[in-house]
Formats: sequence, C-alpha cells, structure tokens
Amino acid sequence: MRSIISLAAVAGLSLTSTIVSAAPVAKRDYGSVFPLTDGFPNPSASQLQDIENRAFGTLSNAPPPGTISTDGLTNLKLIALNELFEVAFFTELVANLTNKVPGYDLGYGHDFVLQSLEAVVAQEELHTLNANGALKHFNAAPILPCKYNFPVTKFQDAITLASTFTDVVLGTLQDVIQIFAKNGDDGLARGVASVIGQEGEQEGFYHVLQNKRPSTLPFLTTGVRDFAFTAIQSFVVPGSCPNINTIPLKTFQPLNVLGTPSAASTSIQFSFSASHAGTSDWSKLSLVYINQQNLPVVEALQSVSVSGDVVTFTANFPYAQFEMNGLTIAAVTNGAGPFATADAVAQAAVFGPGLIEI
Ligand SMILES: *[C@@H]1O[C@H](CO)[C@@H](O)[C@H](O)[C@H]1NC(C)=O
Repeated sequence: MRSIISLAAVAGLSLTSTIVSAAPVAKRDYGSVFPLTDGFPNPSASQLQDIENRAFGTLSNAPPPGTISTDGLTNLKLIALNELFEVAFFTELVANLTNKVPGYDLGYGHDFVLQSLEAVVAQEELHTLNANGALKHFNAAPILPCKYNFPVTKFQDAITLASTFTDVVLGTLQDVIQIFAKNGDDGLARGVASVIGQEGEQEGFYHVLQNKRPSTLPFLTTGVRDFAFTAIQSFVVPGSCPNINTIPLKTFQPLNVLGTPSAASTSIQFSFSASHAGTSDWSKLSLVYINQQNLPVVEALQSVSVSGDVVTFTANFPYAQFEMNGLTIAAVTNGAGPFATADAVAQAAVFGPGLIEI
C-alpha cells in the first residue's frame, strides 16, 4: 500500500504539469464510447465474468423482489442513466492515463492511480448492469447510453469533476432509498445502500488525490433526483440519449455559479437566463442552499443586474454559521419558502443545481 503522502505527491505533480500545459483547447465530441471492448452495456456471459474479475466482485445472485412501485422504477432508471455516464467518464479517464495524453502523465504513482481507476470502471459497469437488469426483470426498458462531453483536459480537473459528481450521487442515492422506503420497495434499499458506501470509498480516494481530507462531513449533503437528472444532462450531447424521455423527472434551467467559492466567501455570485425566469420581478425569487442534513437556507437575490438575457446577482453565503463544507446544492426558487426539505426546494425550483464544493 502506498501512503497518503505519496498520493499527495501525485496530486502535487499533476498540479505542476497543470502550469506547463497549454491553454484548454475547444472540446471535441468524443461520440459514443459504447459498446466497450468488453461488450458493455450488453456483455455476453463470459464477458460479464471478465468484468467481474476486473471489478474484484460479482453482481448479486439473489433475485430482485417480485414487484416494484412506479416511483421505484424511476429510481432504477435514474441510477442506470447516471452509472452509464460514470462508465463513460472513467473509461475516457483511464484511456487518457493509459496513453499518457498531455495533462494525464502523473509520473510517480501513475500505475497505482491507473489500476485503482480501472477497477472503478468495471465496478461502475456492474452498478449499471444491476440497475438495467432490475429494469428488465420488472419488464421495463433498460436505459441506453448517450454521447457525452466532459469539460476537462487535465487529470487534476478530471478528479475535481469526478469528486463533484460523486458527491451529487452520494446525495441522490439518499433520496432514492427514501423513495423506495415510502413506496414499499424495501427489497431494493439494501443494495443501493451498499452502492452508497462504495461511491463513498471512491470519494475518499478522489479527496486524497486533491490533497483534501478523505472524509468530508459528519453527515453528507442530501440531494433530490431532479437535480441529479439535470446535472447529468449537462455532460450529455443534446439529443443523444435514445430513451431518456422514459425517465419522468424534471429538468431545470441552468444556474451558473460564478467564481470559485471558498471557506472565506461570505457571498456568492450567480447567473441565470432572464427569459426562463417566468418573472422579471426578481424579489419573487430566492436563492436556496442545500448542505448536509440541515434545513435548506433561503437567501434574497442582491445586487441584481440584467445584461441582455443574463441576470447576475449575489447571495449571502452563511458558510461560517452552518459549517457548509463539502457539497452545497444551490437553486433559485419561486418564493422564499421556508422549505422543510430538499424535496420542497426542488418542487419550487426554477434554476439549478448550482454545485459548490468547499
Ligand atoms: C481525455 O483527454 C481529452 C484530450 O485532452 C479530453 O478532451 C477529455 O475531456 C479527457 N477526458 C477525461 C475524462 O479526462
């Protein structure tokens, strides 16, 4: 086993390479990475065995329950959509590391990081096959992969992105388990809980690679399915998802977080599109933060300015009062609540999710 210090050295090395690498080039469209050479997302029996070998474990051989609620089916569809996106991302990241493309040659520690991420790819493949397999079992169509576009050209930025979307997943799977529980789908809750832990192990690794504490918070930030559904689509080539329309979740208009908020920030600047606001009376809108398991924090829009279709504003950021570490999900809502739950925020949201990591 390598020590944390040597992993931190990996992070340091790639930070150095960040400085010397060229300015980001325009993103090319990768097209579809699927099907993978191992047959995913439709591996044969022997290909599945190979995936399990590389994942260091197997799909569960226990049958899923006999019935599922409609909302439970939506859970499985969202999980499949998300896991397909993760497989695409980590497959591309592993390819970049394997080929040592500029920005992805880590020097010392390279092989350890590469081998760890190769296991992640296979493990995410099994997460997808688990969800899509359950959908088939319940006579629902499996979710098909999209084409993706990831806004990163350097290892360190790729890990920052992985860490952020894994945090979103860690919050969303809390919502998934609660919805299973509410609808009598208790037979599916345990398997999802096992995946939360698995993604949490990954998150700890991504933190170390960023020179951060492995464990973020005592209680991780919660999420709502609609926010994850919207966030995933921001990495998708528009119109490239064959059956995303079978997932009955809400897609919000984008909320942009401007600048890089930190523990020292007392306010944060955001922007959104005026024509999608449904009002031009900005006092009717609020900025809401979701962090940890706390009640959502509601703030007024301040210093609002409109330029063409872009509305820019600031909102107070009560970092110190609530120790708002880790992931914070921001949304612009109609009305000022108060909101009892993250779900109530999503019900009233117009723009979101703005993803903030401290
Ligand atoms: C892989 O590298 C290419 C070329 O720099 C880049 O466009 C792409 O976003 C990278 N993907 C990941 C996941 O790092």
